[in-house]
Amino acid sequence: MAREVTHTATGPKMLTPDDIDDEHGDIAICLCGLSEDSPFCDGSHKRAEDEASDARYKYVDGERRRVSLDFEE
Ligand code: FES
Repeated sequence: MAREVTHTATGPKMLTPDDIDDEHGDIAICLCGLSEDSPFCDGSHKRAEDEASDARYKYVDGERRRVSLDFEE
């Protein structure tokens, strides 16, 4: 099954100090959907930083493609 998920974040969600495990230190959860180490941020969000706000993209095998905003129902 294939699923396309829309993300609007272009960076990680940083947890509050109360969420951080003393053993592991800082933790960043991926919100862009591009991390190869989900659910953790691996820095892949940098590829989304120059995306246009009025466009939709799909990443296929690491390559960014701009896709239509129209939906088929
Ligand atoms: S927020 Fe997704 S890789 Fe950083």
